[in-house]
Amino acid sequence: MTGSLPRADGFAAAATGRSTRRRIVRSVVNLVQERLGASSMAEQVLRTIGPVVLLGPPGAGKGTQSKGITEHYHIPQVSTGDLLREHVKQQTPLGVQVQAVIARGELVPDNLVCDIVAWRLRQPDADRGFVLDGFPRTQKQAAWLDSFLKFEFFDSGKWASWLPIVIRIEVDYNKLLLRITGRRTCPICGSIYNVHSKPPLVDEICDKDGAKLVIREDDRDEVIRERLDTYEHQTKPVAEYYMALGRLVTVDGDQSPEAVSASILKEIDSHACDRVQRNQAKGT
Ligand code: AP5
Repeated sequence: MTGSLPRADGFAAAATGRSTRRRIVRSVVNLVQERLGASSMAEQVLRTIGPVVLLGPPGAGKGTQSKGITEHYHIPQVSTGDLLREHVKQQTPLGVQVQAVIARGELVPDNLVCDIVAWRLRQPDADRGFVLDGFPRTQKQAAWLDSFLKFEFFDSGKWASWLPIVIRIEVDYNKLLLRITGRRTCPICGSIYNVHSKPPLVDEICDKDGAKLVIREDDRDEVIRERLDTYEHQTKPVAEYYMALGRLVTVDGDQSPEAVSASILKEIDSHACDRVQRNQAKGT
């Protein structure tokens, strides 16, 4: 029958296509399993982590810890500082507008920061969760985040009501100064080093891509003090806001980066577990 030939061919082609696809999928899975370990892949690549907020003064280790969380759970780091610095580097209209504000160590206006966060959280890679590094930093930003999550994630059915876990990293004031003045960053890959606690293998050169490390514009003495003051007056109340809602956990940042990281991952895991149990109990 003329009609059956193309059909049979179609099935054969489909079967060949299926087996090729299966081979490709299998080798990708093998590759990922090799790199992550089987159980880690199953647990981390597929599960929803939800929003993680890292709070803490300049130099507390938010950027350093965000990178660890990102690698562990495969969710993106959303750093408002990095996003703003990128705008400045590209000299976009926003970058030109905020350049002087950042150089003085003051906060960029809430509406501008909320707009770039909204844009970033709508990207598909944020669907299982994200780490907010340096946001929210004012009570207005915190209130905005609550309504954004409600409308864009919970009400839309993307996630059940997974409220953010808010982790405050606490570090002694004098250690903060030492950390900030010793910080060096890679302008290409964003790796963070420290001349005192985490020097690169070759002086001033990134271990990963060989780029010359840079000192951040706002890591000058007079600006550092302004940033620490801004934190005291404008961002500390954000921690109080979350504490009143019972959503704040505090982690001791005066330990090695690995020890801080272990404490943070433990908090995120237990928070994710609680939420799953609560949502199962509610049938969502
Ligand atoms: P942003 O880039 O967010 O800077 P920040 O909050 O001041 O924080 P830092 O990046 O200085 O420190 P960190 O906590 O990330 O520490 P890190 O891991 O690098 O903001 C910059 C500016 O942008 C603001 O001033 C404002 O103008 C604007 N802005 C940003 N967000 C905004 C918002 N939401 N609203 C309005 N304006 C906004 O670590 C520091 C150093 O310590 C490194 O060298 C690291 O290697 C070392 N280190 C880290 N952990 C340890 C450890 N456990 N032990 C020893 N050394 C360590």
